[in-house]
Amino acid sequence: MTTQTVYLNGEYIPLAEAKVSVLDRGFIFGDGVYEVIPVYNRKPFRLEQHLQRLQSNLDAIRITNPFAKQQWSEIFERVINANEPAHQSLYMQITRGVAKRDHAFPEKITPTVFVMVNPLQETDDNAFNKGISAITLDDIRWQYCNIKAIALLPNVLLKQTAIDDGAQEAILIRNGEVTEGSASNIFIVREGVIKTPPKTSFLLPGITRDLVVELAKNNGLAIEETGFTGTELQSADEIWITSSTKEVMPVLRLDDKPVGNGKPGPVTCKMFDIFQNYKNQLKQA
Ligand code: PDD
Repeated sequence: MTTQTVYLNGEYIPLAEAKVSVLDRGFIFGDGVYEVIPVYNRKPFRLEQHLQRLQSNLDAIRITNPFAKQQWSEIFERVINANEPAHQSLYMQITRGVAKRDHAFPEKITPTVFVMVNPLQETDDNAFNKGISAITLDDIRWQYCNIKAIALLPNVLLKQTAIDDGAQEAILIRNGEVTEGSASNIFIVREGVIKTPPKTSFLLPGITRDLVVELAKNNGLAIEETGFTGTELQSADEIWITSSTKEVMPVLRLDDKPVGNGKPGPVTCKMFDIFQNYKNQLKQA
């Protein structure tokens, strides 16, 4: 196996040599934000949108962006090209930095910046047809779920509850309304109409979600950004989740019952094709 190269605070180094202080506020407080960007044929997918979301997240937690877009792009390119696979999931995180432990922001502090890539498993026909199972759980998270915070303990616990139940994702419900998955956004189809919850502070504004909404509209599919209840979810004809690593992935079992006839439904198949075509065009460009 070749050595994985990562970026840490200005250096391109082997993963095993990448070390941060135990006083890093990411380690002590979970004080930071992150992004996951899919990379196809060494090209970051929807880079502009990911960098925009990063900027909003940094603004939300009051960390000054250490780099301009062009600089981010150059760092990503170097890490992408220093590693083997053509398709990668790029992970980057920024924490407030290293300081003596104190909840209040330190006056002078340099953010810690880390970037790594891992191989990305594309959702092929096989994975798509297999789909996933999900369970519904109470959304126990905080009120700023729109921030892509590195503090993911609730999401980790929710995901693990799903895994322990033999499922792959937890779909979260807050005050009766469906919000999103523990690591994904959610779409349902009822009577031919696609629905996904509107962007509020109770869910992450997924880059894949936004793309799917855009593609659905451009391709004449009926889609509404509108809230729906857990009961509507349970009786949906089709369900799928989206994320940078799962793309468009059908949920074929929910709370141990088949969704529809237990196979990807017609609208899900259509959306998957549209998404794959869009992706393949960019891959070849
Ligand atoms: N997670 N909602 C949550 C809570 C998420 O963690 C994610 C993605 C999404 C989908 O967002 P996007 O389409 O921008 O990937 C929605 C990433 C993949 C992760 O934490 O690994």
